[in-house]
Amino acid sequence: MPEIAFVNGRFLPLADATVSVEDRGFQFGDGIYEVIRTYDGRPFELEAHLARLDRSAQALDLRQPYSRQEWTQFALEAIQRAAFPEAKIYIQITRGVAPRDHAYHDDLVPTVVMTVREFRPLGASVRAVGVEAMTIEDIRWGRCDIKSVNLLANVLARQQAKHAKVFEAILIKDGQVTEGAVSNVMLVRAGTVITAPEGPLILSGVTRAVVLQLARQERLPVREQYCSQADLHAAAEVFLTGTTVEVLGVVRIDGKPIGDGKPGPVTQRLATRFLERTL
Ligand code: PDD
Repeated sequence: MPEIAFVNGRFLPLADATVSVEDRGFQFGDGIYEVIRTYDGRPFELEAHLARLDRSAQALDLRQPYSRQEWTQFALEAIQRAAFPEAKIYIQITRGVAPRDHAYHDDLVPTVVMTVREFRPLGASVRAVGVEAMTIEDIRWGRCDIKSVNLLANVLARQQAKHAKVFEAILIKDGQVTEGAVSNVMLVRAGTVITAPEGPLILSGVTRAVVLQLARQERLPVREQYCSQADLHAAAEVFLTGTTVEVLGVVRIDGKPIGDGKPGPVTQRLATRFLERTL
């Protein structure tokens, strides 16, 4: 079964999908995106992802060409056409095609792309052992709450992590932990789950929201506040949340073990609750 693309309202094989070289997404990174995954063929938290897509569009004065209902229909059709056991759905909307000029005309027609590819989740052994991370200075712009395709700082951070042979780059802004390059970061200190507050310095993760809700249901104290890099290193547990990582224990940061160097009890409990939530 071919990987599927959807370009401006038309389904076609991914290999045949193209957009113009004058697309502002290509020339300026002038666009937004979402990544959604399926569990047992069903898109997880699609409504929350589409709501965030709307918020990103509004923040950038970008016309959202489809309603949430239309997006839902297109996504379900794409998943069905691709027929992968599990799929990763990528949605991107750019401001459209125009001769290169930083400022734009209000009447541009947005370019809409959706792709569906096979998604292979992380193996159970990686989850059981946990992953390693490194801290990197957060050099991103001041609107990280917008899920923009402008991902240069994230790209460079991920590449640095890859060279260091660690799983994720944890970003530090003015001494405070913001989030990961492709995930949100949570730590556990004296039984309390702590993560950076929503605001312009982080992406308000869909998984983050689900996990915070699960933590509250589990009667775990939760605090949305910034932590320092020292707090991160001294935490009893650290874990990542995100569409692709779910709830994933971090057992070493900058070469130093976190807690006893294994995914901790709170991480394991929330990972289990999260998995149940996807059924
Ligand atoms: N990234 N923070 C950043 C910077 C992210 O890029 C992501 C997701 C998250 C987690 O958000 P969510 O739980 O809604 O997936 C946090 C996606 C998967 C990506 O860029 O591929």
